[in-house]
Amino acid sequence: MDTIIARIDPVHPDPDIIQRAGEVIRSGGIVAFPTETVYGLGGDALSADSAASIYAAKGRPSDNPLIVHIADMASLDRIVSGIPGPAYRLAEKFWPGPLTMIMHRSDAVPKATTGGLDTVAVRFPSDPVAAAFIKAAGGYVAAPSANLSGKPSPTSAKYVIQDMDGRVDMILCGDDSRIGLESTIVDLTEEHPVILRPGYVTLDMIRSVLPDAVIDGALISDDSDLHPKAPGMKYRHYAPKGQLVIVQGEPDRVVAYINERTDADSADGYRTGVIVPDSVLAMCRADVKFGTGDEGDSESCAHRLFDLLRRMDDESVDRIYAEGLSGGGLDDAIMNRLLKAAGHHTVNV
Ligand code: TXA
Ligand code: MG
Repeated sequence: MDTIIARIDPVHPDPDIIQRAGEVIRSGGIVAFPTETVYGLGGDALSADSAASIYAAKGRPSDNPLIVHIADMASLDRIVSGIPGPAYRLAEKFWPGPLTMIMHRSDAVPKATTGGLDTVAVRFPSDPVAAAFIKAAGGYVAAPSANLSGKPSPTSAKYVIQDMDGRVDMILCGDDSRIGLESTIVDLTEEHPVILRPGYVTLDMIRSVLPDAVIDGALISDDSDLHPKAPGMKYRHYAPKGQLVIVQGEPDRVVAYINERTDADSADGYRTGVIVPDSVLAMCRADVKFGTGDEGDSESCAHRLFDLLRRMDDESVDRIYAEGLSGGGLDDAIMNRLLKAAGHHTVNV
């Protein structure tokens, strides 16, 4: 398939390009587009055929439900059966933005979009290109992250092109994703609101609106028999080709431990890499050294993380060490992605 690759102004998107992208969706095609979290792989959310095309482009099993993206509150009614009160309260505070809410599905949404579930995940992104594109597409765009299954979510147009050129009809190339981690997912179909995936909107932020919100036990337990309720969280997630280890502890000891390990790995003939705060880079002796930003700057770390993991593969690193985070809030979301990439391989020093 010939893929149209269109550069688009991230703040004032060209209406002609947006119109063209909208037409692609309305005629059953697939368009990758920027959002503030990560790039998405969009199709018509109300068409079962489009859902099938998305799964095919992504190489993803079709029982993993898609998020439906909308561009105004009024669109919610058609796809949700009985909007719960808490949804309005969360929307008022966090929409448009990096928050996805799970509610009961209406018949307008085909089961092909929701992976057979009777619930639907809905997000109202704030990115101006995303908003204009969703409107032009008819108001309902189903979209997973625009990576090939098994790769990190793309936070830059170049990675979308790497993964999707030739597999989709069109790629809208905007800026690098501002946030860099996928949206927070909160389930509103249970007795208490449950966070199924941590993200930029933290548990504390949700609790400021809904004090009884909790985190899905499977996200914080080591018990592998506990299955997370978001089906996508159960799949084996992206792991770099090299072995990733997360090192937790007091910063000086973390650096000392990482140097000890990378020296030993080098002696064994492995290519080594580290992912640490910028201030620590000069103290590390690995072959490939990537900084996450200033010490304690979680937003910068979130923004860079997926890019750094992809670059470790590009650099053919065999052994990667990353400093663990424990600040709570956004650090929880970063650690959730790091733990998955590391297959939960952590060391406390
Ligand atoms: O930031 C984001 O959410 C990005 C951008 C493109 O919006 N999208 C994204 O989609 O991360 P995806 O498909 O990579 O992840 C969606 C997650 C999966 O873990 C899926 O299982 C879960 O949402 N999910 C979707 N619908 C659900 C439902 N009805 N019940 C429970 N989990 C659901
Ligand atoms: Mg994804």
